Amino acid sequence: MLKNKNIILGVCGSIAAYKSAILVRLLIKAGANVKVILTPDGANFITPLTLATLSKNPVYTQYFEEETGVWSNHVELGLWADLIIIAPISANTLAKLATGICDNLLTAVYLSAKCPVYVAPAMDLDMWKHETTQANIKKIESFGNTIIEPGSGELASGLYGAGRMAEPEEIISFLHHSIKQSMPLFGKKALVTAGPTYEAIDPVRFIGNHSSGKMGFALADELVTLGAEVTLISGPTAQKEHQTLKRINVISAQEMLDECISIFPETDITIMCAAVADYRPKVIADQKIKKQEDNLVLELEKTVDILATLGKTKNEQQILVGFALETNDEENYAKGKLQKKNLDLVVLNSLNDKGAGFKSDTNKITIFNKALERTVFETKRKAEVAKDICIAILKISK
Ligand code: CTP
Repeated sequence: MLKNKNIILGVCGSIAAYKSAILVRLLIKAGANVKVILTPDGANFITPLTLATLSKNPVYTQYFEEETGVWSNHVELGLWADLIIIAPISANTLAKLATGICDNLLTAVYLSAKCPVYVAPAMDLDMWKHETTQANIKKIESFGNTIIEPGSGELASGLYGAGRMAEPEEIISFLHHSIKQSMPLFGKKALVTAGPTYEAIDPVRFIGNHSSGKMGFALADELVTLGAEVTLISGPTAQKEHQTLKRINVISAQEMLDECISIFPETDITIMCAAVADYRPKVIADQKIKKQEDNLVLELEKTVDILATLGKTKNEQQILVGFALETNDEENYAKGKLQKKNLDLVVLNSLNDKGAGFKSDTNKITIFNKALERTVFETKRKAEVAKDICIAILKISK
């Protein structure tokens, strides 16, 4: 969740600043890019060298570093950040955030930033309980900032009570939870099918197709990125998922159908991207078919159309998305599939378009919605195409 996120960690004057070192380590371990801003008081409690070494970045303490002559641009820093965490935040900095006082680099960056801000207060129990502090907490919450509540226990003063900064591990799990909840598809269950299916002829041969599975895997990854809980049903493919999801491997259209039917009732969003075989051998030979005559005739029977089957049982809340891979009269066939299979969206690939279709790393799509409105996209990498498809899903998300 924190991977590749740009995080500014603000550290204020409090004994809890020693915990900031551990927090930086945990953020770096989680894959974040971390820049630390120390307030002048914060620098009395922990050295820039410690935090610079752990964050692998220079530590900012003021607008202008006299020794180096470097000017720290607060606007640039504020816009760089995907997330600001101020841990510990003192009663003093809390009051500055509440009133807009901007007399150091951290408060200036806070005012310049557009990203979510989390603060983890640390102070003595009476300071924490004070009406002014509590009013400031409410005020900064009303601005959209998130408070990571302090815990209770022995404080630096020797008194017991609330005011201890949350432990670094607690802050990390708070961030994980909070980021997850803010994702657009949080709480949604998604099902994606990908790859080809193989229909057995005998124990060593099958009928298959050239689908690589790349588009389906890119879609499954993107849905996870948007916060959905994803089940990926994949036919035989060399692809690997990059996100944490539930993967079910299948071989034949029948196996894919069985898995889809059992999962579909629980899903909110289903994307059928698999290139399912339309026909399979009517009889699968028990033994390898030996070479005999000059010609061999195989009798094929239709497989069940999985997408159409799901379309029949779909309820009003569920979103069902299908693909249409066409070579001619593309738009009419795609619109026909949308209506016949009771879909919310159909994604058209035309094999006539350069950079579209099987095996390629790129795709060129056109999306039709239920009202048969058409959106045409440029040729893009499949990860980008997955984003476009998910944006179209978010637009109709129920
Ligand atoms: N599909 C499916 N089950 C099948 C065949 C197709 O679920 N047995 C799904 C595919 O995953 C895709 C959509 O139906 O989302 C359209 O697949 P496509 O092969 O383009 O079309 P078909 O409906 O099979 O029709 P045709 O082959 O005649 O174009």
